[in-house]
Amino acid sequence: MPPSPAPLPASLPRFLWSQRRAFLPGLGVALLRIVTIAPLPVIFQRILDVHVPAKDVRGILLLSALTVGLLVLHQIASVRGASLLGTAVSRVVLELRARIFHKVQFLSFGYLDRQQTGRLLSKYAFDTQKVEGVMMPVLNGFIPDTLYSLLTFGVLVALNWPLALVVVLMLPVFAFMRARYFARFRTKNEANRIAQEHLTGSASELFTALKLVRVYGEEARAADTLAAGNDAVARSRVELIAVSSSFGAFSFAAIKVLSLIVVAGGALLTIHGQVSIGAVIAFVAGVPILVNPIQMFASVSEQYFTAEAGYRSVNELLDAPYVEEWHGTVRPEPLRGRITFDRVQFHYPDNARGAINDLSLDLAPGEKVAFVGPSGAGKSTLANLLLGLHRPQSGEIRIDGVAQADLDLRWFRRRTALVMQESPLLSGTVADNLRFARTDATDEEVQAAARLAHAEEFILRLPEDYATRIGERGALLSGGQRQRLAIARALLRDPAVLILDEPTSALDYESERLIQQALDNLARGRTVITIAHRLSTIRHADRIVVLNEGRIVEQGTFAQLSAAGGYFAQLLASGETGLAT
Ligand SMILES: Nc1ncnc2c1ncn2[C@@H]1O[C@H](COP(=O)(O)OP(=O)(O)OP(=O)(O)O)[C@@H](O)[C@H]1O
Ligand SMILES: [Mg+2]
Repeated sequence: MPPSPAPLPASLPRFLWSQRRAFLPGLGVALLRIVTIAPLPVIFQRILDVHVPAKDVRGILLLSALTVGLLVLHQIASVRGASLLGTAVSRVVLELRARIFHKVQFLSFGYLDRQQTGRLLSKYAFDTQKVEGVMMPVLNGFIPDTLYSLLTFGVLVALNWPLALVVVLMLPVFAFMRARYFARFRTKNEANRIAQEHLTGSASELFTALKLVRVYGEEARAADTLAAGNDAVARSRVELIAVSSSFGAFSFAAIKVLSLIVVAGGALLTIHGQVSIGAVIAFVAGVPILVNPIQMFASVSEQYFTAEAGYRSVNELLDAPYVEEWHGTVRPEPLRGRITFDRVQFHYPDNARGAINDLSLDLAPGEKVAFVGPSGAGKSTLANLLLGLHRPQSGEIRIDGVAQADLDLRWFRRRTALVMQESPLLSGTVADNLRFARTDATDEEVQAAARLAHAEEFILRLPEDYATRIGERGALLSGGQRQRLAIARALLRDPAVLILDEPTSALDYESERLIQQALDNLARGRTVITIAHRLSTIRHADRIVVLNEGRIVEQGTFAQLSAAGGYFAQLLASGETGLAT
């Protein structure tokens, strides 16, 4: 298996720092943008204080032209910087997502079985988006604007340091009041977010369980649930709007008050001849620029905390130690299909009770074996173990005499096929789904596999036969049709080992008989493990292995076992286990 990339830094700031090379060009241009407009207050001051008294129209026009030139540069740098940064940010997110998908491919099923698929998906789609959400505002906003603020402050100090001092002394008051307002805003915002999340949660559940709701005739109750959720969102939204509008009004007023202080203070100083009118105008223009980073700080820190949570969630997955520990490289080519379970002991991670107990079994290449036994006996678990989806706690599984731990497991899996009770199909066409088993299969091969699986007869009746799109997870097909596609897909793979986990349970008697024939034809030369409840499926097996509570209770041919009068005969007689004719 390919080595994993180096782990990500533990914290978001370090992660962002580690990406600095990617951000550098964009950040450089964003800073350039600031440098172009920082001198504007000085230009205003000079027009008013130098060129107006001198009635120097030419000078005024020159400085105006200079201002326009600077603004054009500013415009170009803004657009270019934003696009450079945007590209860099998308690349970083892409990389995060690639890492998540890569990691998921190696997670052990012991871990995956306990995870909700939805959670993995939300790490992939939304948590990465949260990380993305902080990058642009910081890189293209907060950092350049802070620099802008500092440069402007420098300019103002140079123009008139006592007035600059007054402004600076006012800033902490402004910041403090703003922070208090923001705390309230944040509480309401959080309440709104939670209400929203509840609503999305119950809506997504109800939409997924649409059929359940309808079949039980519980539409009204479902609607009530959603209405209550919507109501809560609406109420919290109104509260949020109230707080945020008063917050906005405060910010507006606060800047005006600061400007007023500058104008009034400046006027007083002007009377005493200590400051020029031009400098006062420059100050009025400069105040909003000075205040801007303080304004931004609250919302950026909010985005930062969200991003940090997202980053932690992504990193939790990337760091998860529950990976498949298969590093074997042996490829017993060609795979003959001898399978040996040697005193295998296995329990699932969250259940100390053994699912497979001290089980030994030797299957010859080409042997057709049927596993039978009551529900929970461990039949599917044996198949999972054989495919290496779980690892036995003790004992060993050998394939063609090679211990599973030494085997190149991916190589082995590519030479096996598993047909499950409900085999997943992908959206896309019928042919796409079949070719999942072998991308380079010719049309003839695809059709031959479909014919053998008795899928062709219904495929040809679809609107665009093999090119018909079958909807998400094959939703447009019946259970039996889906199953026949899954079987065709397995046949196309031409596996040395074929595992059928109740593949015919969704079929009617007639289709089952047809598929059984197909499977029988196809089984030649392969080791076939069939897990089945139906008698017709197992009657012709070379060997029937009867399992109960993870142990082999009996094995033999159908005739031997029926005659022996043991557990199998009891199962047959009782019909309780679903061993149906
Ligand atoms: N992913 C899992 N995590 C924890 N326990 C599991 C898991 N899958 C199965 N088990 C437990 O392991 C035991 C064997 O289950 P298994 O699915 O192998 O039974 P089975 O013989 O295939 O039954 P069925 O005929 O119902 O498919 C059961 O007790 C089951 O509860
Ligand atoms: Mg099962």
